[in-house]
Amino acid sequence: MQSEEIRRRFLTFFEKRGHVVIPSASLVPENDSSVLFTTAGMQPLVPYLLGKKHPQGRRLVNIQKCVRTQDINEVGDNTHDTFFEMLGNWSLGDYFKEEAIQWSYELLTNREEGFGLDPKRLYITVFEGDENAPKDEEAFQIWQNYMPKNHIFFMGAKSNWWSVGENGPCGPDTEMFYDVTSSGLGDLTKKEYEKADAEQKVVEVWNDVFMEYEKKDGQITNKLSQRNVDTGAGLERLTMALQKKNNIFNTDLFISLISVLDKFTSDNIRSKRIIVDHIRTSVFMIADGVLPSNTGRGYILRRLLRRAYVHVRKIEGDFKTVISVVNAVVSHESYKGLYAFNSETEEIISMEISKFGKTLESGLKQFDKGVDPFILFTSYGFPIELTEELAREKGITINRAVFDKEMRKHRTLSRSGGERKFKR
Ligand code: ALA
Repeated sequence: MQSEEIRRRFLTFFEKRGHVVIPSASLVPENDSSVLFTTAGMQPLVPYLLGKKHPQGRRLVNIQKCVRTQDINEVGDNTHDTFFEMLGNWSLGDYFKEEAIQWSYELLTNREEGFGLDPKRLYITVFEGDENAPKDEEAFQIWQNYMPKNHIFFMGAKSNWWSVGENGPCGPDTEMFYDVTSSGLGDLTKKEYEKADAEQKVVEVWNDVFMEYEKKDGQITNKLSQRNVDTGAGLERLTMALQKKNNIFNTDLFISLISVLDKFTSDNIRSKRIIVDHIRTSVFMIADGVLPSNTGRGYILRRLLRRAYVHVRKIEGDFKTVISVVNAVVSHESYKGLYAFNSETEEIISMEISKFGKTLESGLKQFDKGVDPFILFTSYGFPIELTEELAREKGITINRAVFDKEMRKHRTLSRSGGERKFKR
């Protein structure tokens, strides 16, 4: 099943059950300064989860573009990416656990309407309870209508409580995992399941959050006036399970991007994955109006592009390699008619890479000589995180506090310089 079909089936399934399809919001959050990028489908819906009436009603479904960079160092393994599409359905004070779980199970396993995944390969986790909320016996009971008890595990808040930031709606969740190994692992005990999860042999395909609590300044303070359902299924991981792959980079969402790099004989798979991931994310950020810069969102974009280019050099590619991947993203079959890209994407990325490309080789030489990270940043355009990563590979630790202090001094100096200029 191709990714287009997966999106279509998800939306149709919930439309048939009274949900209205709403468009993806921008990757740049509107009216929310607490995060740089939209990291989950629920984020643009926060006011409605808190009780405001949504103009489209109480049952919604969509595919939300998301960016998460906190796991950037994991990109290159089987399942992590910095951009992904999240399939989600919402109940804004309407249905709750019973329907949410039933529909998740049906959609995952039903052959005609859904994805036809093998129920024997499914594992479910449920919230085990803590000082904020009780053990989710209700979800556990409901799951037993569909799943044998030995495939349902209770887990702590670290894995089965969802919230975003210090303020907002939150609640316990139930997560669905799929055994993606070729021959199947058979029935796993909890301990074996945890090991298989760490080894990415079972992969999370969907998360149903039962949002009935509110968090204020980091504390869970009260129950909301309504009980909501917020769900999220990462398209890339779901596609991986459905296309029987053991990593997202072998799905149709990535294969046309990775194949651009086939001509490089380098067997550095990690670098190839980082390149396609970071360039794909950059193209989507630019589509939503982000431009490379030294602060905020623009800095994240700059970091991604520069890091991608370092890996392009590692596999002995060049400037043209980057552009070929950019073109593969904007002409991707799966994005046709769904996402509009910025017509200046190639130009913006070209400019950024050529600026950095000019100083990269000499910067790397300076790095080898042990030059200060601050000089590498100001004179050679090396984001500190990149210097840290290169240093890590050599077993060296960078003193970040010293760098940050230098940067503060630098910023104050350039600000006062700017003010002087302005006064004249
Ligand atoms: N908000 C939940 C998540 O992102 C569904 O996993």
